[in-house]
Amino acid sequence: MERSSVSLETCRVDPLNASTCEPLLSVSGVTLQYKTKQHLVTATYRVSFDVMPSERYVVLGPSGCGKSTILKAICGFMQPTEGTIKLKGQPIRGPGPDRVMVFQEFDQLLPWKTVKKNVMFALETSGRLKGRSAEEKALEVISKVNLTKFADSYPHTLSGGMKQRVAIARALAMEPDVLLMDEPFAALDALTRRHMQDELMQLWEETRFTVLFVTHSIPEAVRIGSRILLLSPHPGQVKAELNSDGSDAIDPATGLRLSERIHRMLFADQIESGVPVHD
Ligand SMILES: Nc1ncnc2c1ncn2[C@@H]1O[C@H](COP(=O)(O)OP(=O)(O)O)[C@@H](O)[C@H]1O
Ligand SMILES: [Mg+2]
Repeated sequence: MERSSVSLETCRVDPLNASTCEPLLSVSGVTLQYKTKQHLVTATYRVSFDVMPSERYVVLGPSGCGKSTILKAICGFMQPTEGTIKLKGQPIRGPGPDRVMVFQEFDQLLPWKTVKKNVMFALETSGRLKGRSAEEKALEVISKVNLTKFADSYPHTLSGGMKQRVAIARALAMEPDVLLMDEPFAALDALTRRHMQDELMQLWEETRFTVLFVTHSIPEAVRIGSRILLLSPHPGQVKAELNSDGSDAIDPATGLRLSERIHRMLFADQIESGVPVHD
């Protein structure tokens, strides 16, 4: 099958400060595989991308293309079969508090702890902060996600959107080098989802954290991303990388045009034949 063009748009270099182009996270030629009793499943095939400091980097692709697997490898729960993953120039050897994940599931909080205690627990077990300082930090991030009134509530009393806000607050409290988000709003109703996307953008405006956001939704990718990496269906390969900063926020028509362009690219032919899926 013919190889479709892979458009890799260059990163925006600040000429006064070349260091802005040093990647914070570097994924290079990464193939990830699962060995089951019957099969060797190739989840991603030679995927490469760099995430710059303070970027909102989105990985977009259909279900099963290996998005969660890439995040697992970045977290350090899985080693690449080939290729390397580096954070601040150092190969990732295992999990660490410099990478924190927010998942799609609403049950990622500890049900027996209040909102505040959930955030404090993460700070204390990681050794970041203890006691009064942990409590102060927890209340600060809980206020940022507008949940101050619910600081002493238990997770089962909160809506799905509120639980996700707690998970985001807990992750931000850890001040990771990179915040990893695996379809965090996918299980929310459409209106809440839209609201959460806006809130995430507001939070980002305040602190400019680096976020690697995974989604299968084109509108969500366009709304959230400053850059978007398109992956092909299983096994995930890079189809294109697009600059998207503000397309949707500045001008909905530009956002729509980008969405249509992505749609065409995602539904274009497979990019490579003969890639091992099941060996
Ligand atoms: N634990 C596992 N064992 C075997 N195969 C797996 C496992 N987890 C995921 N896979 C397979 O790897 C591929 C990528 O999965 P995943 O990373 O979850 O995709 P996505 O997050 O893009 O939906 C899929 O074909 C999936 O079936
Ligand atoms: Mg997934």
